Amino acid sequence: MSNVSELKVPDIGDFSEVEVIEVLVAVGDTIKAEQSLVTVESDKSSMEIPAAQGGVVKAIKVKVGDKVSEGTPLVEIEAAGGAEAPTQEAAPAKAEAPAAKQEAAPAPKGEAPQPTAASAQGGGEETVAVPDIGDFKDVEVIEVLVKAGDKVSAEQSLITVESDKSSMEIPTSAAGEVLEVLVKVGDKVSQGSPLVKLKTGAAPAPAASAPAKAESAPAAPAAQAPAAQAAAAAPSPAATRQPPVPAAPAAESHAAKAHASPSVRKFARELGVDLSKVSATGPKGRITPDDVRNFVKQALAGGAGAAAPAAAASSGGGLDVLPWPKVDFSKFGEIEAKPLSRIKKISGANLHRNWVMIPHVTNNEDADITDLEAFRVQLNKENEKAGIKVTMLAFLIKAVVSALKKFPEFNASLEGDNLILKKYFHIGFAADTPNGLVVPVIRDADKKGILDLAKETAELAKKARDGKLSPGEMQGGCFSISSLGGIGGTNFTPIINAPEVAILGVSRSYMKPVWDGKQFVPQLTLPLSLSYDHRVIDGAAGARFNAYLASVLADYRRILL
Ligand code: COA
Repeated sequence: MSNVSELKVPDIGDFSEVEVIEVLVAVGDTIKAEQSLVTVESDKSSMEIPAAQGGVVKAIKVKVGDKVSEGTPLVEIEAAGGAEAPTQEAAPAKAEAPAAKQEAAPAPKGEAPQPTAASAQGGGEETVAVPDIGDFKDVEVIEVLVKAGDKVSAEQSLITVESDKSSMEIPTSAAGEVLEVLVKVGDKVSQGSPLVKLKTGAAPAPAASAPAKAESAPAAPAAQAPAAQAAAAAPSPAATRQPPVPAAPAAESHAAKAHASPSVRKFARELGVDLSKVSATGPKGRITPDDVRNFVKQALAGGAGAAAPAAAASSGGGLDVLPWPKVDFSKFGEIEAKPLSRIKKISGANLHRNWVMIPHVTNNEDADITDLEAFRVQLNKENEKAGIKVTMLAFLIKAVVSALKKFPEFNASLEGDNLILKKYFHIGFAADTPNGLVVPVIRDADKKGILDLAKETAELAKKARDGKLSPGEMQGGCFSISSLGGIGGTNFTPIINAPEVAILGVSRSYMKPVWDGKQFVPQLTLPLSLSYDHRVIDGAAGARFNAYLASVLADYRRILL
């Protein structure tokens, strides 16, 4: 018998035809029982649907945008360890206690939330409390959507609460003017917890017209009864998310509207990101995890860069840059879309972070390598039979080690307010491969001779080009060298390979006429471009390091000093 079984959407009340907004597992993942498989969302609430049992995911049956209901197959899993997986029948959703129902989402009640005090139809005061929301107990308030002085209509959301796996907005049962807000973000609430004091009679009293039954709420989960009822009154998500009237200040009203799943809200809170400031790129204006990440990147760039735009500086945060231009290039001619390679995607994200987070300065220096090149050529003649070819890279690695010993702050990483100084000398070098840039690392370069270094760099470069480098061979670097000398160029700005604090860019050597006091003499010159992290290294130290490097390359005997 097969040990593969299908996990379906469990009984989640009237929660039907709800949209999948995130798929949280991938084929090959080993999952545990109760681990969330997908996030679904209705107009006002979202919830994660957990697995009834653990195993290895063999197939995923839904994608973002699909509509699901009870019984919709979500994934196929194979029981871990070859044990036969219980069938779906053997693990009925109800009996298996899906977190979505028992832990996170309140049981459907189908009743309109009731105020704790009798509604004063003719005007008066009443306290609106959390209605019966089933098992949803001691849940955290993550947003307060109204403030004293706001006029609220019946069913307007007052707060958003969140459990481990779902979030919901709790609406007011009566209309009126908010006299006092009785909860704050971070409070834990349960059924009966007072939320606001309202002056009723100040606005039309629509409580009676509030739909009493959840079934009048199309496509909204009955599990989130209060939200469902509100949705029934205002089917458009945008409409239901309108800020109180009169409008609250912009940021607050936007915060109330911020549209994000519980996991994204949690992620944003962990990073201290105000969702009201994040531009959404997801469907229906939903904020995705990448939107939060991009916001953080931009905020960090704004904080590190001296030239952040005034708008960003005034808000103290993100760059507030224009959205990336969306152009239909096919309008102008034939095009072809080519996905970035995996290496490009990974290295691109790293380069971007390093570029925006590290204040780079590049110091350019010329090294006289006339004698060194002559020595290199001679060495290669001598070692021709041994099959070892020495390129400038091996000499550069050794010279860099010498400079790192002389200037230890270049062999360091910044951790908060601490500089971690390294006593080992592992040197990375950028290698150009058909799939993109990788940086293999030569370990303990201080303990190796030029021929060993030449041999090892050639081997690692070949492995890199063949895509055979192991992760360990690309880790632990102290300083990197990017040599474009075999290709060309005069100078460039290499991007620091964080958490390192400096990198050496090497361009093509060329013959420079140098005045020796009597005449111009030809000098083989190697352009050195040293980028350093200005938070760690002063301009003077940068210039000293590069000048020292040039002096060692000009007269390699200096390495012995
Ligand atoms: N000036 C002039 N010639 C140079 C030179 C320099 N600075 N550096 C190397 N050369 C010559 C070599 O001597 C060799 O010449 P030859 O074929 O006549 O013997 C030729 O250029 C090719 O050298 P190469 O195979 O590139 O060896 P290398 O040891 O110099 O470099 C790598 C090895 C792996 C670094 C190199 O192949 C590479 O991938 N470079 C690209 C790095 C990169 O992409 N950096 C960008 C990161 S942003």
